[in-house]
This record gives sequence, structure tokens and C-alpha cells, in this order.
Amino acid sequence: MPTILVVEDEAKMARLLELSLQDEGLTTLIAGDAETGLRLLNREPIDLVLTDLKLPGMDGLEFLQAIKRANAEIPVVVMTAYGTVETAVEAMKAGASDYVLKPFSLDEMKLIIRKELDFRRLRQENRSLREALGRRYAFGNIVARSPKMQEVLATVERVAPTNATVLLGGESGVGKDLIARAIHQHSRRSSGPFIKINATAIPENLLESELFGYEKGAFTGAVVAKPGKFELADRGTLFLDEIGDVPLAIQVKLLRVLQEREFERLGGTRTLKVDVRLVAATNRDLRAALEQGSFREDLYYRLNVVPIDIPPLRDHKEDIPDLVDHFIRRFAPESGKAVTGITPAALKVLLGFHWPGNVRELENVIQRAIALSSGPVLDVPDIRLDLALATRRPAPGVESAVTSGFFPPNGMTLEQYEEEIIREALRRANGNKSQAARLLGLSRNALRYRLSKMGVADETDDNPSSAGDRAS
Ligand SMILES: Nc1ncnc2c1ncn2[C@@H]1O[C@H](COP(=O)(O)OP(=O)(O)OP(=O)(O)O)[C@@H](O)[C@H]1O
Ligand SMILES: [Mg+2]
Repeated sequence: MPTILVVEDEAKMARLLELSLQDEGLTTLIAGDAETGLRLLNREPIDLVLTDLKLPGMDGLEFLQAIKRANAEIPVVVMTAYGTVETAVEAMKAGASDYVLKPFSLDEMKLIIRKELDFRRLRQENRSLREALGRRYAFGNIVARSPKMQEVLATVERVAPTNATVLLGGESGVGKDLIARAIHQHSRRSSGPFIKINATAIPENLLESELFGYEKGAFTGAVVAKPGKFELADRGTLFLDEIGDVPLAIQVKLLRVLQEREFERLGGTRTLKVDVRLVAATNRDLRAALEQGSFREDLYYRLNVVPIDIPPLRDHKEDIPDLVDHFIRRFAPESGKAVTGITPAALKVLLGFHWPGNVRELENVIQRAIALSSGPVLDVPDIRLDLALATRRPAPGVESAVTSGFFPPNGMTLEQYEEEIIREALRRANGNKSQAARLLGLSRNALRYRLSKMGVADETDDNPSSAGDRAS
């Protein structure tokens, strides 16, 4: 039975929390101040701390920092008064798992505690799973041989059965939709609805009514009442695509639904309660949006309970051969062609490309190749990469996108182009960094610096065979 430490100086409030948590089958310990709280934490096994931010003596924020120094893993939920959201956000930055604004409903509090306990258990299980040897994650329609994608699936598998809000990040075409659906399918809600709404596809003035619905007469043209996506998603999953594009006015309303699980239809007075699991996705850097003030911090922290970042295809090219097979098996039957495979040379062209449009682009290229192919095996002439580059190539089987042309191919930024050149140099040098640096006319340190910027770990150092090289 999980044990919760409640730190609250108001005796009445503390008692109320104690009773309702016990109701939930949780063991509770009560402390009237942070100092007592810390003593209890040292003595007892505690699974979660629920603390007021305003406390006599050491305040809640210091208390939180002290807990995190001692044990970063223990979830801490903070309680704070309305009108002090900034403090709540401070607390989230200092490592709080979530917050509730006073006065709160006990239901909301229980929901948050359940979610945090679920997530804590999940993290523990995840660790033991990863330790268990060679476990591989497999989902029917998702190709994920690479360690990077395996990690994505590991998180999906563990998080799916909980109700935790998930924030999917990644460039366009990396598979955010696919992963959102997988989360739903592997959840206890899989027999319920999966409802998707895309914030960019809907004009701002309609987005609100799409999300929350409207009553008859709410505005001109509202001749009948209409339920919103939140209502439609009851007992299921709501997938909020392109969350970074939701206007601020609607962000406030989303925050309220996340906090209280209730809302009203436009023009309505009835308060509706829903049981919805939220999965959000963005291909923008939400942290930058936070800094610009176009995205609310409190909403960000609510959404970002479990972040899953899906890597761009160029960072897991090992998956390309499987993806190609997967798409051939999917598209050959519907195109009526008996295509069964791809030649090594054609595969090499695909492996050399930088895939700015990620898996979706690869999917399109294969679909087109099948349409063009004349034999049972896709070959180099069937592969039409979107960028003019491919057709400019003098001969098939060229090593990489960088080997022909002089300018960055369309759709590629200078930075991506530079990265591609560096990767190409490393390939030509068989991973030997000194040799790659020489090819690029860079010092070893300059190359190291660029590699670290690209997120290429430094321990993947030169081949042992190049030990002599290293001394130079
Ligand atoms: N790992 C994968 N295995 C198999 N198919 C994949 C994989 N990743 C993506 N796909 C396929 O690639 C296409 C694009 O994926 P998806 O629509 O999920 O991308 P997205 O990240 O949502 O893109 P956007 O940001 O443009 O909305 C889909 O047809 C999807 O089925
Ligand atoms: Mg998508």
C-alpha cells in the first residue's frame, strides 16, 4: 500500500486530506511543517509527498529542493493558493511533479495522486525491464529495430496503461500520429474512442467550439447543439495535434479541463465532466514558445507529464531497410504489382539520403517506386527522391546526398547540410575521427565540437586500429 506524506500546517485541511486519501486505500503520514516532514522522510518509506507551499519555518519550495537533493525520484505534488500560479510554476521547475490550486476538489487531488503513483511505479518497472536482458518491444505496425526507436516503444508500452498525459515531440513525419494511436490501443481505454483534433487545421474562432462544443443559439448559425471533441472522447483518448499552435485564449480553457476535468459548452451553463486521457503532439520546440510567451508555462507542465521525443529518420537510419520492407508489403498489393524487394544499390541510395520529411517521405518514395517499377525488385531508377538532387546524380549508387551538387538540396538548412557532410566524412573515414577531420580540413577538436553539437557521443571514438593516428 503506497504511503503519502502530507505536509500542511492547517490542521483541518490536513485531516481532510488524510481521510480522503485513506478512503483511496493509501497510507498517510501528516506533518505540520517541513522540518517534521524531512524527519519523517528519513525514517519512513514514502512513495509521494503532498505539500503546501506556504509553511511556517522552512517554506514549501525549500522543502521541495531539500527532498529533491536527498532523493530526486520521489514525486512531490504541491498545493498553492489561486493567484499564485507563478509559485506553482517555480515549483515545477524545481522538480515538483504536479500542482493543485487551492481550493481544489478532492476528486482532482485524488486523480493527480493516482497519476503520480502510477507513473512512479511505471518508472520503477521500466528500469527493471531495461535491466532484464535483451527484451525487445514490438508493435504490429511500427518498425523499430534501432535502439532509439526501441526506447520510444519501451516508454509507450509502460505509459499506455496509465492515465498520464503524454507530450509527443518530433519533426514532421516521424510518426507522432502512429505513436499516439499505439498509446490508445495499448491502454485500458482501447475499446473507447480515439479522437483527434489538429489545432492548425481549424481556424481559431472554430477551435474552441470544436473542442468544447456549443449549445443551440450560442452564436449565429448554431441552430442545433453540438458536442465537442472532449465530450466525444469520453472514456477514450483525445489526441491534440500541433498543440504549439493553440492560441493563448484557448490554452487557458485547456488548462482548466486538465485541472478539473470539467468544462461548459459554448453558450452553455451546464458543467460537463469527462473522463479523457490526453495525448498532445508538437513539431515545434515548445520551450522556445514558452520563452516567447506564446505558450503558457502552467499548461506546458501539465501536458509534459510524460514526454516522448521521436527521433528524426536521419538519426535512426538503421530502420530504413525494415521500413522499406514494411512499405513494400503494404503498398505492393494495393498497386497490383508483385514487388517483393529492393536491390542493394537502391537501398544504398535511400541510406545516403537525409530525409527532411522523415518516415512519411520515405513512405511516399517507396509508394512511387512501386508505381514506377517494372520488375519484382525495386532498383535505383525507381527511386525518385523529392529533391532535384537525385536526378542530378551522374550515376546510380552514389554514396550520399552530399556527393553531388554544391548547394544544400532544397528543404535542407545549412546546418543540416553541414551535419550531413560531417556524417559523410565519418563514413568515408570508417568512423575514424582524425581522418574525418583531415577530410574536412578541420582540427580534431573542431570536429569534436561539431559532433557534440550534433549530439554524437564522444565515447564512440576512433577505431582501435587507428591508435597511432590518435597520438597526432
Ligand atoms: N516507425 C514507423 N513504422 C512504420 N511506419 C511509420 C513509422 N513512423 C512513421 N510511419 C508512417 O509514416 C507516416 C507518417 O507518420 P505520422 O503521420 O505518424 O507522422 P507525424 O509525426 O504525425 O507527422 P506530422 O508532424 O506531419 O503530423 C505514416 O503513414 C506512418 O504510418
Ligand atoms: Mg501528425
